[in-house]
Amino acid sequence: MPSFSAEEVAFGQKLYQAGCALCHGDTGHGDGEDAKELHMVPPDLTQIAARNHGHFPLQQIVNVLDERQMKRGHRTARFWTPPTESEIHEWIVYLVAYLDSIQANPGDKGR
Ligand code: HEC
Repeated sequence: MPSFSAEEVAFGQKLYQAGCALCHGDTGHGDGEDAKELHMVPPDLTQIAARNHGHFPLQQIVNVLDERQMKRGHRTARFWTPPTESEIHEWIVYLVAYLDSIQANPGDKGR
């Protein structure tokens, strides 16, 4: 498992606040402003590991955020327009670093 630097987590948090908090809530609990207008309830992102037997499913979360893997949900690029293809990859890493850092039980982190 990779381990994320504080810088990656901090940058991920900024991206999260800009592109994700509207639905998923400022702290990831699924209570964002726009959540009530969706047909689906955004999942509580602090409980990803807890829902997955205490393990943060890193690759699965990357897939959720990577539009080319999409079967369900998200096209991350829809939420912003990152200038380059490689930048969207970096942004996904930062976002995953942030999500990893907010898991409810610190013992549940993916590293
Ligand atoms: C328009 C509202 C909306 C926005 C904006 C949004 N999400 Fe979501 N998200 C949802 C909904 C609804 C689901 C549940 C349905 C699904 O999985 O597609 C979800 C599911 C997820 C999941 C899967 C959780 C799990 O337990 O499997 C992750 C991870 C996630 N979002 C992260 C993000 C991140 C990071 C961003 C910012 C790039 C973001 N979301 C932006 C509405 C949103």
